Amino acid sequence: MNCVIIVGSQWGDEGKGKIVDLLTEYADGVIRYQGGNNAGHTVMFEDKTFVLHLIPSGILREKLSILGNGVVIDPAALLEEIKQLQEMNISVRDNLRISNNAHLVMPYHLLFDQLRESRKGTQKIGTTGRGIGPTYEDKVARSGIRLGDLRNSVHLKDRLSKIIEEKNSQLRHYFGAEQRCLNLGHVLEELQNHFQELEPYLCDSAQLVNDQLDAGKNLIFEGAQGTFLDVDHGTYPYVTSSNTLAGGVCTGAGIGPTKVSHVLGITKAYTTRVGSGPFPTELDDETGEFLRSEGGEFGATTGRPRRCGWFDAVLVRQAVRLNGISSLALTKLDVLDKFEEIRIAVAYQLADGTITKNFPTQQLDQVTPIYETMPGWICSSQGIQQVDELPKELIAYIKRLEDLVSAPVSIISTGPRREETILLPSAPLINP
Ligand code: IMP
Repeated sequence: MNCVIIVGSQWGDEGKGKIVDLLTEYADGVIRYQGGNNAGHTVMFEDKTFVLHLIPSGILREKLSILGNGVVIDPAALLEEIKQLQEMNISVRDNLRISNNAHLVMPYHLLFDQLRESRKGTQKIGTTGRGIGPTYEDKVARSGIRLGDLRNSVHLKDRLSKIIEEKNSQLRHYFGAEQRCLNLGHVLEELQNHFQELEPYLCDSAQLVNDQLDAGKNLIFEGAQGTFLDVDHGTYPYVTSSNTLAGGVCTGAGIGPTKVSHVLGITKAYTTRVGSGPFPTELDDETGEFLRSEGGEFGATTGRPRRCGWFDAVLVRQAVRLNGISSLALTKLDVLDKFEEIRIAVAYQLADGTITKNFPTQQLDQVTPIYETMPGWICSSQGIQQVDELPKELIAYIKRLEDLVSAPVSIISTGPRREETILLPSAPLINP
């Protein structure tokens, strides 16, 4: 049995989709444990590009794919994704399973996300507008609706009528958006229609996952977003509303920490971020622009341009600790191919002049990164599949990153395709 957690070690968009897809060949199932359709996992194969928002990337290889209890589900978005996959002849019905306990993103969650963001003006979080924050708020407030709740229509109507009364009152009196108020009958009807289509997929996912582990199966837990968007350990309040860290697997999928065999941290060879919030190594100049265009750095969910900057070793070292990362998959190295010199942030100078290698959990917007410069390789590394074919400067860059963040690299990605990858013997799952 192998139980591998795959997490993003920066602010998301590290290239998790490709690595999950690749390792799924060696796995029996893939489980999502947090987030919702705010995520966008891009996978390329057979010259086609797939962007999955909710369903685990494992579905493309027709492996057991589970949406765990910690995921929040917009039923319309999920059904659309199922339809698109079926149109590509991918067998969804046999492979997808969804937790009864996963919370639903309701129409009022989408409205509240968008209305709140526009009220915040310059202080907005820059959310994806998919209703994720308000859904998790209601989950914690114990007023959420779970997929399994749709089975009992009488009880559902009773609960929903009270919830909608409260939401409409807020829309009317706080947001001044009387015209956006919701109609109970319409909401219920839409939910029942969605439920009819989704019911065949519902299950007790924690039981299913544990049964799989007991049977010695190899499972991948696919994280969404990244370490510094974690609601507890990220750059709060500029975070998402779930626990994106490896620890989130235990609650979001229902397994104990003793089951985990490997935590793989997906790490981009530079840094990007979408949405607002501090970003010490951000490059607001033509170098940042160059990284964005070379790396195709535009959000897979919203299409927004990503903010770009140099690799931040202070940040990734913190991610290694917070997640207990066993090894790293280093992605998008080829984006650095044309740089004569490459910079790495190795420490921060704090506002009071102190220099630290530890990640400060407050006032990250006031740190100045201290850089080290390394020579670039100025040749194409795209598609290289053997370590000994990599330019020596690129190998030196990898070794320096390993030293700085205190974790070994087990996978090197040299392009978006499955085959553009070097799997070192220490990569998880490949050696049964
Ligand atoms: P929310 O998750 O839509 O509430 O957005 C909160 C923050 O997380 C915003 O800065 C988003 O841009 C960011 N975010 C959410 N999902 C992703 C993702 O999959 N990749 C990168 N950033 C994300």
